[in-house]
Amino acid sequence: MKTFPTSAAWCFGILFISVSLITTESSEVVGSADPVVALAGDDVILPCSLKPSVGAEDMTVEWTGLYLKTRNVHLYRQGRDSNVEQFPSYRGRTSMFHEELKNGNVSLKLTRVTLSDAGSYMCFIPTLTGQVKETTVQLFVGAISQPVISIDGTKGWGVALKCESGGWFPEPEMEWLDSSGTILPADGPEKHRDEDLYTVRRHVSVNKTDTNRFTCRVQQQEINHLKETEIHVPDDLFPKSYIVLIVGLSIAVAVAVLASLAGVYMWRKCTKGEFNLDL
Ligand SMILES: *[C@@H]1O[C@H](CO)[C@@H](O)[C@H](O)[C@H]1NC(C)=O
Repeated sequence: MKTFPTSAAWCFGILFISVSLITTESSEVVGSADPVVALAGDDVILPCSLKPSVGAEDMTVEWTGLYLKTRNVHLYRQGRDSNVEQFPSYRGRTSMFHEELKNGNVSLKLTRVTLSDAGSYMCFIPTLTGQVKETTVQLFVGAISQPVISIDGTKGWGVALKCESGGWFPEPEMEWLDSSGTILPADGPEKHRDEDLYTVRRHVSVNKTDTNRFTCRVQQQEINHLKETEIHVPDDLFPKSYIVLIVGLSIAVAVAVLASLAGVYMWRKCTKGEFNLDL
């Protein structure tokens, strides 16, 4: 009669151990299906965690960069960070959230991201007994800058404007807009690439409007960023309008005609001898 409770205890014990083993074994490494998007200079977190959550304090976590040759980005082993073989460009820029390890959160923090950090990163837990021991996270790095507008003189009856923006990655789109948001027909764009960054330039010729306000918009959809600069062109920069010129010309012609008529009249009078001039 005494054996029953003992065997029951054994049964429960074994059951408990199996359940915990199954839980540990079925924990998988989970990253992020969406790429992590950052701007050069930002700090980013590359997500990686164990699901269902188990403590990862005693596990080995390897973060590597998948380039032509795999780069050691960060290594956590035997309860501490161990970065003797770290790829040089990551030195001093990587860390893991040690207080989060107990929750199975083995995400990597990478500070001061550069364009050359972009790519695939693998989060690998070799000590995990389950099927899925690794995941890859994409890091996408962009660069943006404020467009600069300058006035380039006049063109016909309008004012020529130039917009330029350097320091973009990837290649951006540039548009000129009037104050109601309508895209204006503009030249170009001219684009060139220096090192990794793109410079874009676009010229537009604008006519006088109610507001004389014009906007240059530069955007990069892949990194979901947009920069705008607005300019107000003073009224007196626009060449005098056509009507004013026609009226001016007509007056000049009229004056000239009147003057010559007067000259002819005087000449006639002189030759008829109505004036007795003592020469
Ligand atoms: C992991 O920890 C970091 C820092 O606290 C946090 O930002 C991140 O959201 C955590 N990730 C998960 C999956 O909980």
